[in-house]
Amino acid sequence: MSLSIIILAAGKGTRMKSAKAKVMHHLAGKPLLQHVVDTAIQLKPSQLAVVCGNGSDQVVPYLEAQGISTVMQIEQKGTGHAVEQAKDFFLTSEQVLVLYGDVPMITVDTLQALIESGGNTSLKVLTTELPEPTGYGRIVRDFEGNMLCITEEKDADDETRLINEVNTGIMCIPAQWLSQALANLDNNNAQGEYYLTDLIAQAVEQGIEINSVICDDEMEVAGVNNRVQLAELESYYQQKRATELMMSGVTFRDPARVDIRGNITAGQDITIDINVIFEGNNTIADNVEIGANCIIINSTIAEGAQILPNSIIENAEVGVDCAVGPFARLRPDTKLAAKAKVGNFVEIKNANIGLGSKVNHLSYIGDTDMGADVNIGAGTITCNYDGANKHRTVIGDRVFVGSDTQLVAPVTVEDGATIGAGSTIRKTAPADALTLTKSEVKTVKGWKRPKK
Ligand code: UD1
Ligand code: CA
Repeated sequence: MSLSIIILAAGKGTRMKSAKAKVMHHLAGKPLLQHVVDTAIQLKPSQLAVVCGNGSDQVVPYLEAQGISTVMQIEQKGTGHAVEQAKDFFLTSEQVLVLYGDVPMITVDTLQALIESGGNTSLKVLTTELPEPTGYGRIVRDFEGNMLCITEEKDADDETRLINEVNTGIMCIPAQWLSQALANLDNNNAQGEYYLTDLIAQAVEQGIEINSVICDDEMEVAGVNNRVQLAELESYYQQKRATELMMSGVTFRDPARVDIRGNITAGQDITIDINVIFEGNNTIADNVEIGANCIIINSTIAEGAQILPNSIIENAEVGVDCAVGPFARLRPDTKLAAKAKVGNFVEIKNANIGLGSKVNHLSYIGDTDMGADVNIGAGTITCNYDGANKHRTVIGDRVFVGSDTQLVAPVTVEDGATIGAGSTIRKTAPADALTLTKSEVKTVKGWKRPKK
């Protein structure tokens, strides 16, 4: 069965009070529209197109960069008119699934259930029951429960407005029939729009089978019209992700104070303190502890590692039983081998830190290959940048670097070398020897401090 998916995203979003297109506002670190696109792709449609209009200067390039087709709806004349613009993308398919770019939480499971709720020639409508249905199209049924039509709030009489079952807007429609039916729509209604919802009455008239699926979770089909609703959906999403992780063996000190923007592959017996943010793709192994206020981006943290509070880890690999932080920053392409320690106010970038090596205090280590069992003294800096190019620092095994040392790259410190405190090392420090900068110590007797 071939399926086309059309995502409607041409609407204005006036209530967002924003220069940014509504569907480009972020939820869990990515645009609302991207959530819908990602879900749509999982259904493996034979064709997928997004109907754009308002904010298309932002939306179209964004989608094109991903190779997703767009269709312009220059004037927004209603949901039926919007779908019609995408005709070329469903004429050769059997069914068309219509999704909304501002309804981000819809799940693959619900859509699959809708698609499978009837044969290829039936019209399928996803509905939900709301205690407070104001604003939505109402599902009007006969006494046997057969759907008769959808009546928009603005066109409904008092009796119809009492109906709690509403149209989510999401429908799956036989494609051949749809192209005919769209041509029959008129705009004789309160809003002067071509309503997609008028297809129901048409289908009833023509004896087309109608199936409906009721979505139990109203948040899944909730749309975003303003920033309050956006925030509500964000916390719904975060709570859902935290729940999934807790069910798989992760402890949150407070599941309401974590933000997951992306994917986490998590092991068991992981403990996560408050206000931790995860972005992108992260893999966290068993028995990892993450302290408060850490930000973890596209990183891998191996078994038993401890990430202490206020650390930022980006595009990095943390080895088994490592300790990082508090207040550490691991920048892209940092690899910590097992049992390495990176302490407070240490920045590491594009560097390999060997087994059990320690950089405990106030250091910058960049573009460095460091061996095992190294101890880097407080305040050590790799001077990796000469103002034009970056150079590497190579540090062997069992090296001891005294505090406040500058290693001016390119430079090598050989195995077992010791560097005296306060040195500036510009050439190879030989193995198993002490290397230090000679600096004269001078005392001026009788010297007086300046006075005000
Ligand atoms: C629509 C439904 C209503 C349903 C509600 C669910 C119709 C006539 N009504 O109403 O039954 O309960 O959604 O939220 O379908 N859009 C376009 N082009 C247009 C008009 C809309 O792309 O010309 C897009 C919007 O960007 C939005 C979606 O379609 O993503 C729905 O449009 P909106 O104006 O919000 O429809 P509602 O009046 O809320
Ligand atoms: Ca709406």
